[in-house]
Amino acid sequence: MTFKDKTIGILGGGQLGRMTAIAAKKLGYKTLLYCPKGDNPAEYSVNEYIDGNWNDNKKLGIFASKVDVITSEFENIPAKTLYNLSKITKVYPSSFCFSIAQYRNKEKEMAAKSGFLVSKWYRIKSLEDLIKYSKILNHDCILKTNSLGYDGKGQIKISSEVNFKKIWTEINFDDCILEEKVNFDREVSILYARSSNGTECFFPLSENNHQNGILKYTIAPAILEQELEIKLKLTVKKFAKLLNLKGLLTIELFQRNNDFIFNEIAPRPHNSFHWTIEGCKNSQFDILVKSIMGQDINDQVVCENWKMINLLGDEVENLKFFNFHKDQKIHVYGKKEVKNGRKMGHITYPI
Ligand SMILES: Nc1ncnc2c1ncn2[C@@H]1O[C@H](COP(=O)(O)OP(=O)(O)O)[C@@H](O)[C@H]1O
Ligand SMILES: [Mg+2]
Repeated sequence: MTFKDKTIGILGGGQLGRMTAIAAKKLGYKTLLYCPKGDNPAEYSVNEYIDGNWNDNKKLGIFASKVDVITSEFENIPAKTLYNLSKITKVYPSSFCFSIAQYRNKEKEMAAKSGFLVSKWYRIKSLEDLIKYSKILNHDCILKTNSLGYDGKGQIKISSEVNFKKIWTEINFDDCILEEKVNFDREVSILYARSSNGTECFFPLSENNHQNGILKYTIAPAILEQELEIKLKLTVKKFAKLLNLKGLLTIELFQRNNDFIFNEIAPRPHNSFHWTIEGCKNSQFDILVKSIMGQDINDQVVCENWKMINLLGDEVENLKFFNFHKDQKIHVYGKKEVKNGRKMGHITYPI
């Protein structure tokens, strides 16, 4: 089989899948998408598409038999599905990585084991737990569903004025965590990749600004003292080792003075590294493709500063107002339905 005959299977039809498919094509690979029917922007960028549910073992089996390696762009694909697929073909990152990333308690426990600082948190399974632990956290905390949250969804801020009963009804989830609110100086994210051939790389750090729990813009590279950076990278590598990572690992962090406090991981491309499409020789999507295909990868450097702004909701319908820079690049994902706060595209430009 020649290089060009290899096919990458992509699970999940969102913008991350779309941009992965575009990178795969550029690098000479074919792509086959698998995801449920719907408003899937990746559909238009892949060679082939199979629609099916995450538990349709027959269709998943056909999908797996047609590809050389499978990668996931969507964090909530059942880990069991990934495990079953791994019996047929290579799945990078593995079902194990996803089984950790899908549960806030598990990723926090592994973060602590890797050497990250983790702010105080408690598992909440009842209204009584919520009342008890909110008090312990001085009513300055956030209730989060333990799984299935994204873009700030599945989170409620707790203060001394709240009606706990109302909040417990509103979150409507019997497995939650309560997290101490972190008074951070800034939020950053770090992206590490490990190829299946054993080579590895980092991207320069991103500094992230969220509004209502959704990433609004990223500035990169984030400036960081060399000593802190070296220490941070060692901790990230430890985490990746515990995950036995093949593919990408993003870690979201809160920085306070010289400390990094763990927030969460994502074993997939990450919104805060979309600037790498213009900003690095290899984008995060290129590095994902190279990693899962066992190519050599190496640290990505960048000589300019970049800003990436998300186009949320109907902003995508007003692109003429977004004139930030003569060299800006606008990426529109091609989602059919515009929803409030939905990620519809992004803009990257040098600053
Ligand atoms: N414990 C916390 N303290 C302060 N801010 C937080 C905390 N947890 C979340 N946030 C804010 O909400 C954003 C989204 O929360 P996160 O836990 O990353 O969930 P999601 O899975 O939706 O990205 C964070 O990037 C941060 O801005
Ligand atoms: Mg997050």
